[in-house]
Amino acid sequence: MTDNSRIATVQLGDKGPETGVQGLGCMGMSFAYGPSDAKESRATLERALELGVTLYDTADAYGAGENELFLSPFFRAHRDEVVVATKFALSIPPGEPTRRVIRNDAPYIRQAVEASLKRLDVETIDLYYMHRRDVNVPIEDTVAVMAELVREGKVKHLGLSEVTAAELRAAHAVHPIAAVQSEWSLFSRDIEAQVVPAARELGVALVPYSPLGRGFLAGSFGSADKDLTEGDFRRQQPRFTGENAAANAALLAPIRKLADAHGVSLGQIALAWVQQQAKVHGLPVVPIPGTRRPSRVEENTAATRIELTAEELGLLEPIAGQVAGDRYADMTFTSAGRE
Ligand SMILES: NC(=O)c1ccc[n+]([C@@H]2O[C@H](COP(=O)([O-])OP(=O)(O)OC[C@H]3O[C@@H](n4cnc5c(N)ncnc54)[C@H](OP(=O)(O)O)[C@@H]3O)[C@@H](O)[C@H]2O)c1
Repeated sequence: MTDNSRIATVQLGDKGPETGVQGLGCMGMSFAYGPSDAKESRATLERALELGVTLYDTADAYGAGENELFLSPFFRAHRDEVVVATKFALSIPPGEPTRRVIRNDAPYIRQAVEASLKRLDVETIDLYYMHRRDVNVPIEDTVAVMAELVREGKVKHLGLSEVTAAELRAAHAVHPIAAVQSEWSLFSRDIEAQVVPAARELGVALVPYSPLGRGFLAGSFGSADKDLTEGDFRRQQPRFTGENAAANAALLAPIRKLADAHGVSLGQIALAWVQQQAKVHGLPVVPIPGTRRPSRVEENTAATRIELTAEELGLLEPIAGQVAGDRYADMTFTSAGRE
C-alpha cells in the first residue's frame, strides 16, 4: 500500500520560512549526474509536493541556468506552496567542465539575481544562497549586497553555502542568515566541529546537501569509474574512485546491519541519521536529498519517520573517520578547506 503521509514541518532558522523537514535537491535533473528523463523528473517534483516537501533546491550553476528554467513551470503552478531556493557565485566556463569560477562582488550578484529571477519566472526568490566564498571579497560586503536585495523585494531570506564558522558569524552580523547549506552525511561530518555549533548559537538552520553521499550511501553506485557515465561529476571526487571506492564500500556494513534490523533501505538509514542530527545538535536540520524518481522521494521522505536509538547512532559513529579520500579534489572549495 502506498504511504501518502506528509512529512512534518520545521522553521528554517529563527527568522526563516517554514518548510517540510526534508527538501528536494533538484540539481541532478539537469546537471552533474548523467542523463535524466524530464517527464520522470517532473513527476518527482509533484510527488514530493504531495508528500509535504516544500523546499526545492537549485542554483544558477546547475547546467548554466538550465535547472532553474526546468523548474520554473513547476514553481509557477505551485507558487504559494513551495519555497524556492537558488544560489549565485559559481560558474563553469563553457568547455571546461572541471574548472569553477567564483565571484561574490556586487556587480556580479546584481546580474546573477536578475538572471535567476527571469529564468525562474518568479517575483521573489524565497531563499538566496551565496554558493561559494570568493576570498577576495569581504563577506560583509557580499552580505550587504544580498541584504539590499531583501529590501528591494527580490529575495526573502538569505543563505550561505560552504562557509566557515567565522564567515557565518561575520555575515550574520550584517543581516540574519536563515540557513547554511553544506555537505553533511555519514561520510562528511567536518562541519560538526565549528559550523554547526555556530549555527546553533546564531539561530541558523542547517540544510545538508548530498545527505546520501551523492548516492554512494544508498548503494546506488559502488565505483564512479566503473558504474557511472563519462562526464558524471562523481568521477572527479577522490572518495568514489579507484581503491578509495572499494575501501569506502566496506564502510557501509553497519548501515546495512541497521537497514536489515529496521526492514528499510540503506539510504533510509543514512537519511534518518542526518535528520536525527537536529536533536543531537539542537538546531533545525532540513536535508535535501537529490532524486529524479518518484519512488525514491517516497522512500526518502519515509526516512523522516525512522528513529535511531543512541546505541544505533553509536554503531554509525566511526564511519566518517574512516572514509578514504576527500569529498572534493580541491578542498579549498569547502569550509573545511579554509578552517
Ligand atoms: N551547495 C552545494 O555546493 C551543493 C553541492 C552538491 C549538491 N547540492 C544540492 O544538494 C542536493 C542533493 O545532493 P546530491 O544530489 O549531490 O547528493 P545526494 O542527495 O546525497 O544523492 C543523490 C544521488 O542519490 C541517488 N538517490 C536518491 N535517492 C535514492 C534512493 N532512495 N536510493 C538510491 N539512490 C538514491 C540519486 O539518483 P537519482 O537521481 O537517479 O534518483 C542521486 O544520484 C543537490 O540536488 C543540490 O540541489 C548543493
